Amino acid sequence: MSEKASATLDNLMTENRKFAPSPEFAAQAVAKADKYEAAAADRLGYWADQARSTLTWDKDFTETLDFSDAPFAKWFVGGELNAAYNALDRHVERGIGDRVAIHFEGEPGDQQTITYAELTERVKQAANAFEGLGVKKGDRVAVYLPMIPEAVVTMLACARIGAIHSVVFGGFSAEALRSRIDDAEAKLVVTSDGTWRRGKASSLKDAVDASLEKPGHTVENVVVVQRTGQDIVWNEGLDRWWSDVVDVASKEHTAVPHDSEHPLFILYTSGTTGKPKGILHTTGGYLVQTAVTHRDTFDIHPESDVYWCTADIGWITGHSYVTYAPLVNGSTQLMYEGTPDTPGRDRWASLVEKYGVTVMYTAPTAIRTMMKWGRELVDAHDLSSIRVLGSVGEPINPEAWMWYRDVFGSNAGGGKRRENPAPIVDTWWQTETGAHMIAPLPGVTETKPGSAQVPVPGITVDVVDETGQSVGNGQGGLLVIRDPWPSMARTIWKDPERFKDTYWSRFDGMYFAGDGAKKDDDGDIWLLGRVDDVMNVSGHRLSTTEIESALVSHPAVAEAAVVGAADETTGEAVVAFVILRGEEAAKDTIVEELRAHVGKEIGPIAKPRTILVVPELPKTRSGKIVRRLLKDIAEGRTGGDASTLADQSVMQQITEALKK
Ligand code: PRX
Repeated sequence: MSEKASATLDNLMTENRKFAPSPEFAAQAVAKADKYEAAAADRLGYWADQARSTLTWDKDFTETLDFSDAPFAKWFVGGELNAAYNALDRHVERGIGDRVAIHFEGEPGDQQTITYAELTERVKQAANAFEGLGVKKGDRVAVYLPMIPEAVVTMLACARIGAIHSVVFGGFSAEALRSRIDDAEAKLVVTSDGTWRRGKASSLKDAVDASLEKPGHTVENVVVVQRTGQDIVWNEGLDRWWSDVVDVASKEHTAVPHDSEHPLFILYTSGTTGKPKGILHTTGGYLVQTAVTHRDTFDIHPESDVYWCTADIGWITGHSYVTYAPLVNGSTQLMYEGTPDTPGRDRWASLVEKYGVTVMYTAPTAIRTMMKWGRELVDAHDLSSIRVLGSVGEPINPEAWMWYRDVFGSNAGGGKRRENPAPIVDTWWQTETGAHMIAPLPGVTETKPGSAQVPVPGITVDVVDETGQSVGNGQGGLLVIRDPWPSMARTIWKDPERFKDTYWSRFDGMYFAGDGAKKDDDGDIWLLGRVDDVMNVSGHRLSTTEIESALVSHPAVAEAAVVGAADETTGEAVVAFVILRGEEAAKDTIVEELRAHVGKEIGPIAKPRTILVVPELPKTRSGKIVRRLLKDIAEGRTGGDASTLADQSVMQQITEALKK
């Protein structure tokens, strides 16, 4: 185990608070303890039941799982369904078309209330429009949109016609967008002129233009939503306004069934090498597990809950728990465009109060930021509607967990506190797992601050040592998943070998998640962060190698090494060590220039917090950079074991250089 992981483990060993669900909550919960029993008694039978009771199939499946070509799985084999029909039309057909699907609030305060009937119509129009632009089943559509309803409409319209969406987070640069467009060979790009951020119109279309400047791409059309009204460059022949193609399209569109294993989307995520991986998810299994976990982990009562997931659709959380699961479950959700501190730092609390949010799902980094801003801002609002609180994306430290429970979960309005605070569910999962894998059931599990605790029903998770043996209680090791699960990634787009190597080669027959974990004395699981070269900054996954490649692509950089250093608010922060060369190296502004360069190559989220100019990097005799020692420096420690270095004086040289 890494030094960081073992330090975290020691800290967590002292955490022993437990919070049982209140009897009232337990009595009304949708998921009871018998779910664990049913799943344990017959795992595949359990998933088959969930599949049939949660989704509407045009054709029933004949086999629950085919893993004969492991690790490439097929779930609900022979079944046919349409994801958009499951998220939309069927709710209208069963008479709940008037239920609000999305309460949208833009950052400037503009609002839209979109019912299931209206959302269904909008998706049908978009499906007709995209088909009119030549998009066919199996084609790829790149989506570069902010958090506006059109993002959900676009994704569902693709799903409806069987086109594969590839959403690229709006914080990624033109270069990053282009490499994703190229890898997926996208035919259509859907974007907007811009989005509102901190009171200003921030551009998106510019990045699309820049990404398509170089010839040789596969894009035939760019559909542009007008969101801010800012000036944009118009490319005749390529660009079309959303209002000219979608808003005028027919509202009639029949959803055709697709095979259960038909690809639903590609989502690129960072791995340990420089090239992002196109994680491929397919239809049936993905929808089953996202919908079931959304309902059970958050105790969703669709007729009464107002659910709010703060994640952007550019990440897997936004895919699974904004676009798909809440709609498949027929629930009402809030979608918010902007930042948490505009116009004031109480924007989120005010949104919860305004819309009567009952279930909130966010990331520890946001909780820690609000802790820093002060609880008074939240206390000033009535949050008595909140019933369940979710956390995702990175380990939540017990202090933040307790604050979340106390400040968001115990607010009874009018300055009063609640006797039974809302349960917190810490959900561990990944882009690759598609849906929750480890999470408490809020009406069943006695929750522990800082632990995701137990696999969700039907999932088999373990912590193993380096040799793949299960560790005992009280011990740490590597997190693995023992059996295939419905929403598992099916492959890496155009790179099945990498899929095998990355996840399935470390241990025979088990999925290697890349996370360190420990089992406590009760056998509950605590996540300890990544064990590979992947960093987690504010819940965003970044690759050290990708940022290193971006840095060395600058002419002034001879060599670069990047580490994730512990950071109180963002979990980890990017710290880069660079060796400079050439005339530019002498410039005072070089560090700022390099940060901007990383922003341009990858996106603002990848900009290093700190760039340290050093004369040498610590390397082993075989030339491998010893990141552990750099991490020590970045986190203010000294005296780490340098005995494996080729040149023993390097650490001394670095420390001297940094003193200057
Ligand atoms: O290290 C784990 C961390 O986030 C990684 C997955 O990142 P991504 O694919 O971007 O998906 C994030 C949203 C699901 C994991 O390998 N992670 C995610 N959730 C948790 C977590 N670490 C600890 N606790 C969690 N609840």
